[in-house]
Amino acid sequence: MGIVTLKRDIAAVRESCRIVRKVLAELAQFIQPGVTTAEINALGRDIIRAEGAVPSFLNYNGYPAAVCVSINREVVHGIPSADRVMKDGDIVGIDVGAYKNGYHGDAADTIMVGSVSPEARRLVEVTYEARNLGIAAAVQGNSVGDIGHAVQSYVEANGFSVVHQLVGHGIGKKLHEKPQVPNYGKAGKGMKLSNGLLLAIEPMVNAGAAKVRFLKDGWTVVTDDGSLSAHAENTIMVNGSDPEILTA
Ligand code: MF3
Ligand code: CO
Repeated sequence: MGIVTLKRDIAAVRESCRIVRKVLAELAQFIQPGVTTAEINALGRDIIRAEGAVPSFLNYNGYPAAVCVSINREVVHGIPSADRVMKDGDIVGIDVGAYKNGYHGDAADTIMVGSVSPEARRLVEVTYEARNLGIAAAVQGNSVGDIGHAVQSYVEANGFSVVHQLVGHGIGKKLHEKPQVPNYGKAGKGMKLSNGLLLAIEPMVNAGAAKVRFLKDGWTVVTDDGSLSAHAENTIMVNGSDPEILTA
């Protein structure tokens, strides 16, 4: 479980998370029609290294890149490729992890490329708001289930579905630590949240059905029904009633 209490450790995780946010901000500026997903990965990787950090995802369980890039029906863990070109109207999930001074940071955004359909825009906006609501529930004394309940109820009230087969997670010295943080749940259920707990809260929201499947590359997760999907993630630290969004 990633729980930080020492000033030194909190400073370290803040630094890794600052780098992650810097990468996401620069990638959001860079992405436009004509850019390849390999170029997105290369830029992200180079910024992480220039900051003296290590890309958390590269070689993690054999994942071959520093940035996951997932377009439209792809939910998460898309593999960058020189053959994959962004086009007007795409929504593109970019997921970045950085490791420095013993701690990981992990965050993701979904970028709208050029002018997207009203439905795609609504999906992305609902996903960001679901992330905000999940984070707002991550207060001391609440339970892991309160986070999932906040995410799920908002998403479903908006006519979309949350992915059940993949979850958010604790984070810290390792990229994935306990507890699992589902994007569904019952209020008051599951592990109690205590101060200093580090969580990666990451709603994955489908425009259609919740079911997802893996492509033959072994990584790319896609919606089973081919509908659009969006993903938004932040690393946070539980801090009384005021969670610190480390990757803000
Ligand atoms: N944010 C994703 C996660 O927490 C990124 C992992 S990609 C991987 O699962 F390659 F590292 F697996
Ligand atoms: Co994550």
